[in-house]
Amino acid sequence: MAQDNATRSFPQGRPGRGSSRRRIRVISVTSGKGGVGKTSVVANLALALCRMEQRVLVLDADLGLANLDVMLGLNPRYTIDHLLRGERTLEEILIQGPGGFKLLPAASGIPELTELDNTQRLLLLDELDALRDRFDVLLIDTGAGISSNVMYFNYAAMEKVVLVTNEPTSLTDAYALIKVLTSRYKQKRFKVLVNSAQNAKEAERIYRHLSLVVDQFLGSPSLDYLGWIPFDKQMPAAVRKQRTVLECFPESAASGRLLEVAKALMANEGESFLEGDIRFFWQRFLEH
Ligand SMILES: Nc1ncnc2c1ncn2[C@@H]1O[C@H](COP(=O)(O)OP(=O)(O)OP(=O)(O)O)[C@@H](O)[C@H]1O
Ligand SMILES: [Mg+2]
Repeated sequence: MAQDNATRSFPQGRPGRGSSRRRIRVISVTSGKGGVGKTSVVANLALALCRMEQRVLVLDADLGLANLDVMLGLNPRYTIDHLLRGERTLEEILIQGPGGFKLLPAASGIPELTELDNTQRLLLLDELDALRDRFDVLLIDTGAGISSNVMYFNYAAMEKVVLVTNEPTSLTDAYALIKVLTSRYKQKRFKVLVNSAQNAKEAERIYRHLSLVVDQFLGSPSLDYLGWIPFDKQMPAAVRKQRTVLECFPESAASGRLLEVAKALMANEGESFLEGDIRFFWQRFLEH
């Protein structure tokens, strides 16, 4: 049960693998309501972080149709399914995104990830372990809602970015997501990113509103304000070109804010290193 495992603590390093292992930040981008901009934000943040000399791995964990590879005009030949069947190595599955980030196109394999046998788990963990020295950040596009898959990825990620917009349903769905992650999965900290806002003032108002309701009804979790991205028609225009807005419209308002959000993410990196690394992440995911 997820609840039981939430309190279970895993060792930070595996015996015999050395204590000087690097840590990787594992950041999920999630939302209660669908269509609020997760995939767009993940693609652009991945590129922005690469420009800040971070080595970025993106995990597409969304089962929806508008997947990251499609949004970026990439054509993955293999997914994590091939790895689990022993047909391909992780190296062969990863594809290159803009700015040099790597994408793990796991989408079609995700339903099976919760039902792996022990051999497959070990195979996956070992393959992923080999990646640890190659990346600084793992960004996960979780998909929307409160399905188990979304929950497990959020539960396993050290940092959770909850995307909201000014639509009332986006806020109520974000609240529902935070409620489930708090009560059932014992998660306590969330970063709030407001997308498609009219201006900074509106974004802060949305954040304060959510924060107030969470405080009032859930008590313990703490919400940090990560920043905001304006409503900008260049965002869908970039999607139509199958590129990131940072590449197509670097001067746009959205691009400017996305770079600020990336900077804000990098500014407080301390907390996420307390808990673990990429192996820890997968272990937590697989042993939910
Ligand atoms: N800041 C913005 N301004 C205007 N349009 C935006 C903005 N952010 C995202 N969009 C548009 O909203 C639509 C949905 O975005 P996206 O696919 O990234 O959302 P999502 O949360 O990943 O959706 P899903 O839950 O279906 O996976 C896209 O057409 C995208 O271009
Ligand atoms: Mg999406």
